[in-house]
Order: sequence, then C-alpha cells, then structure tokens
Amino acid sequence: MLEVEEIHTYYGESHVLQGISLSVNEGEVVALLGRNGAGKTTTMRSLIGLTPPRRGRVKFFDKDITNLQTYQIARLGIAFVPSGRRVFNSLNVEQNLKLAAAAAHPLADRRWTMDSVFELFPKLAELRTRRAGFLSGGEQQMLKLGCALLANPKLLLLDEPSEGLSPAIVGQLGEWLRKLKHKGLSILLSEQNALFALRLAERGYVLEKGRVQYHAPADELLNSAQVRAYLGVKFVEAS
Ligand SMILES: Nc1ncnc2c1ncn2[C@@H]1O[C@H](COP(=O)(O)OP(=O)(O)OP(=O)(O)O)[C@@H](O)[C@H]1O
Ligand SMILES: [Mg+2]
Repeated sequence: MLEVEEIHTYYGESHVLQGISLSVNEGEVVALLGRNGAGKTTTMRSLIGLTPPRRGRVKFFDKDITNLQTYQIARLGIAFVPSGRRVFNSLNVEQNLKLAAAAAHPLADRRWTMDSVFELFPKLAELRTRRAGFLSGGEQQMLKLGCALLANPKLLLLDEPSEGLSPAIVGQLGEWLRKLKHKGLSILLSEQNALFALRLAERGYVLEKGRVQYHAPADELLNSAQVRAYLGVKFVEAS
C-alpha cells in the first residue's frame, strides 16, 4: 500500500534522510526503529508532506503522493499521530473527538464514529467531559488515537506512542494497537522501544543516520545479536 523509494530529505542545507526505502503492505504493522536523531520522525514527516523529500518517491496505492500537500495526503487515507501531548488541552475529551470528526473528509468512508471509538476505549467514554489537559499520559494517548481514527485512515503513522508512558500503560497501548491491527488497519510504528514495536510488527527497519541499516522480519530482528547490540539499551530496559 505504501512504497517509499530512495527518499532524500533536508532541513535547510542539512541532508537528513539519505536514500530511505521502505514499504508497508495492507494490514501490516511495520516498525521503524533507531536511536535518537536516526531519522524516524523525519521519515514520517516526509511521507505526509510536512518536510517533502527533495529526491525519491512516495507511492500510496500506486499513486505518486511525493509532491502533494499534507491535507491531500490525509484525504487519501494516511493519518499521522505525532509524539508528545498533542491534543487541545482546554477542550474536553468529547470536544476533541468532535473536532477530529468534523475535520475528516466528508467523502471518506465512515468506518469510525464517536461510538466505535468509545467502544474501543471505554475509558474515554467515562472521561468524555474531562478537559484533555487533565488527562494522564496514557489517557491522552488514547484520545490521540481516537482522534486519528475518526479521520478513517487506511494507514496510521504512529510516532513514538510509548514515549513517556509507564510500563503498565505501554502494555495497554500494545493491546489497543493489536486490536486495531486485527481490524485490518495498517500501521507504521516508530519507536525507540524496539521490543515493544517488534512484538507488534511483522517487519522492521532500523535507521541509522538517515539510512536503513537493517531490514528484516520482526522475529529475525529480535533475535539478531547485531541489532540487539545496536539498539541495546531499550531491549534491556524493556525486558
Ligand atoms: N527542524 C529541524 N531542523 C533541523 N534539523 C532537524 C530538525 N528536526 C530534526 N533535525 C535533525 O534531523 C535528524 C533526524 O531527526 P529525527 O527527529 O527525524 O530523528 P528521530 O529518529 O525521530 O529521533 P528521536 O528518537 O529523538 O525522536 C537529527 O540529526 C536532527 O537533529
Ligand atoms: Mg522522533
């Protein structure tokens, strides 16, 4: 469904992505791994036109989307969930979700509704009148996912969803993502927590300095001494 061919992305004169190629098939979860500054976020930003690549190509269902605007790419069915706490803090849970639903393209097929989001996250229904600024990290992550789903994406780009969450909440996050995967959603999952990502993913790419260093099925990456050594810290922390 997504085919990224040799993209080169710059911030000004700084040549950050140096020929990244990757793919995501329908229904697949693909992990995008790498240490601080490896280029994970820049890869996601490049896919959705926030920092368009200067060279290379991005195709979504065989359509060339490399030079489209971010809103056009969103309408084709790619949703980006950035890292950190990005919700409207002064609005309550329900207002945040309503805003997300209103922003969805009117012609998108409406698989996700407020009700189906509350079904997936019953906790959000309980919290519907709470201001987003008062939610815990895990609850905010739920809300961010709920908002992204209301755009009815075919592909979800999740940037470091486990960042800053306690181990117990990371476990819950894994369950939510597993449910979405079973519903057939495709996910590109960027993570420093390699163990978390590779337990969900079919395949993974390990980035280093803007290049793909390794690419293999998830179990192979999990068992590779070389990859473990490279991403070492997080494996030890997470296990
Ligand atoms: N707005 C920017 N302007 C200039 N350089 C940037 C900008 N954003 C990121 N960079 C640089 O681009 C490189 C890749 O950064 P990126 O944020 O994509 O890495 P990352 O893999 O997402 O890291 P992290 O795990 O810390 O989020 C880094 O060297 C970073 O310093
Ligand atoms: Mg990042």
